Amino acid sequence: MCGIVGYVGRSQASQRPLEVVLSGLGRLEYRGYDSAGVAVVCPDGLVTAKRAGKLTNLLDDLAEHPLAPGSAAIGHTRWATHGGPTDGNAHPHRVGGLAVIHNGIIENFATLKAELLADGAEFLSDTDTEVVAHLLARAYEGDLTEAMRAVVARLDGAFTLLAVHEDAPGRVVGARRNSPLVVGLGEGENFLGSDVAAFIASTKEALELGQDQIVTITADSVDVIGFDGEPATATAYTVDWDATAAVKGGFASFMDKEIHDQPKAVADTLLGRTDPRGALVLDELRIPEAALRSIDKIIVIACGTAAYSGHVAKYAIEHWCRIPVEVELAHEFRYRDPIVGPRTLVVAISQSGETMDTLMAVRHAREQGASVLAICNTHGSTIPRESDAVLYTHAGPEVAVASTKAFLAQVAACYLLGLYLAQLRGTKFPDELREILEDLHALPDKIQRVLDDEEAVRHVAQKMADEESFLFLGRHVGYPVALEGALKLKEIAYIHAEGFAAGELKHGPIALVDEGQPVFVIVPSPRGRDQLHAKVVSNIQEVRARGARTLVIAEDGDEAVVPYADVVFRVPQTPSLLAPLVAVVPLQIFACALATAKGLDVDQPRNLAKSVTVE
Ligand code: F6R
Repeated sequence: MCGIVGYVGRSQASQRPLEVVLSGLGRLEYRGYDSAGVAVVCPDGLVTAKRAGKLTNLLDDLAEHPLAPGSAAIGHTRWATHGGPTDGNAHPHRVGGLAVIHNGIIENFATLKAELLADGAEFLSDTDTEVVAHLLARAYEGDLTEAMRAVVARLDGAFTLLAVHEDAPGRVVGARRNSPLVVGLGEGENFLGSDVAAFIASTKEALELGQDQIVTITADSVDVIGFDGEPATATAYTVDWDATAAVKGGFASFMDKEIHDQPKAVADTLLGRTDPRGALVLDELRIPEAALRSIDKIIVIACGTAAYSGHVAKYAIEHWCRIPVEVELAHEFRYRDPIVGPRTLVVAISQSGETMDTLMAVRHAREQGASVLAICNTHGSTIPRESDAVLYTHAGPEVAVASTKAFLAQVAACYLLGLYLAQLRGTKFPDELREILEDLHALPDKIQRVLDDEEAVRHVAQKMADEESFLFLGRHVGYPVALEGALKLKEIAYIHAEGFAAGELKHGPIALVDEGQPVFVIVPSPRGRDQLHAKVVSNIQEVRARGARTLVIAEDGDEAVVPYADVVFRVPQTPSLLAPLVAVVPLQIFACALATAKGLDVDQPRNLAKSVTVE
């Protein structure tokens, strides 16, 4: 959702503030937005520009009407919530010499707006943000930080705010509650961003701000206080990826690149997790071993693709550890009065670490006395910070809105967690664990082999660009793979797609199957799971008998599927529980190729945002 960048340098009149902010907004485009704007503090006062639509609209406008050089700038990409995506609703919002940008939702904006209107304020937009601009302008008495402190005390909801004032050149003030904001530390210049991508081209040194903090940056200083005005500390860290990780690198889209990053994403997530004796060590898990030994239930909370990785985890963890695992959509968890206690381990899975639904569920779980372990891809984000422990995935930055490499890394991290718990609780012998770990370490090469065969998948996808509906069937771990395959197609190709547990077919969904209906079937390995395999082969026959065109994902050497498949996509032989890491890859390639063939923007699908920071 909204992208935020702030910059301050030493020069009073330079183009660098605007350049930094615009390039930062470019790197934040992936978050999803529908308008963009900037404000620059210049020696002659504040100047702003904002445009509905893509960043290029703003850039064209700036080329025609250049802004004067200045000392500081703020920039914003907006994902509309209050008021449509128009020039007027785009940020920054100005009141006199003050400008403000905002991510999140001010929940009490209607009351505040009524009060401001009664006091004679004139509103130029439909946004909740403009309320903050008026409040700040009224509170400002020469100290922007103090004004921010007074205003945040009146706001309910989730927000990151950045403000500049023409009377305070060389200064940007930010505030955050339930919404991300990080500081970038430079030499004679400092930065603010909704994530480190905002300033990664200039610095890798960052500060993670805590909840309810206000930060004031100048060229040479960074001051952090709490909403209560007391000095506060922020945690310093060094970003472990560079700007090249966030460029397409010769691929047609970020999604395409990220699909191809997957062997490395999985390998990096598995890297360095064993000691010289081959035992698993998860250093980041700050929950005492005794507590992990005593847990009697695991609840996975997550949304969308991350929740599907949790579905895969359920099969693996229950099998390896004999602990019951529930998987719950984070936004449902909170409202159903879940039964959790001190012996419940809640596992929150989130690529961004900022998904508000998941964050709220984490808070709820901790309030109920559960320990929360976050599986997360974004260092310093809110969910790991508010959890008891964290297991970082090392997929690198994921830019495309549709998750691919983060999903594989989440699944790999879940396997590590399951194996670690099995080791700790003695539910698997050390040699069994070593064997599974070896199988897991073989996965990056197997994923690469699926990628090497991508042309066959692309070819079929391109020919099916006019289809209106797809069904996806799977059993056991193939079921979450079916759900994920359907989600990819929905979100980037805008095609109706549904994933089902294959056994559920005859309980209703088979009525959808008609002549020509394309049906993907994820077939489990026949090796050692012949009953499961036979059941899925029967399911293929059932839909084929009713006219379906069957697209089958089956492992090398599985000839039993051939008579019933219109198309077979092959994946390398893999133990059943680990198979999602290869089986989902052809489905990702298929969705990406089909959406591209339809001429769609696969990286930024309509209506979607990368980081869903509102509930
Ligand atoms: C789908 C997708 C979403 C996310 C979901 C959770 O491709 O990306 O379904 O998985 O919004 O996001 P995170 O993992 O950031 O919490």
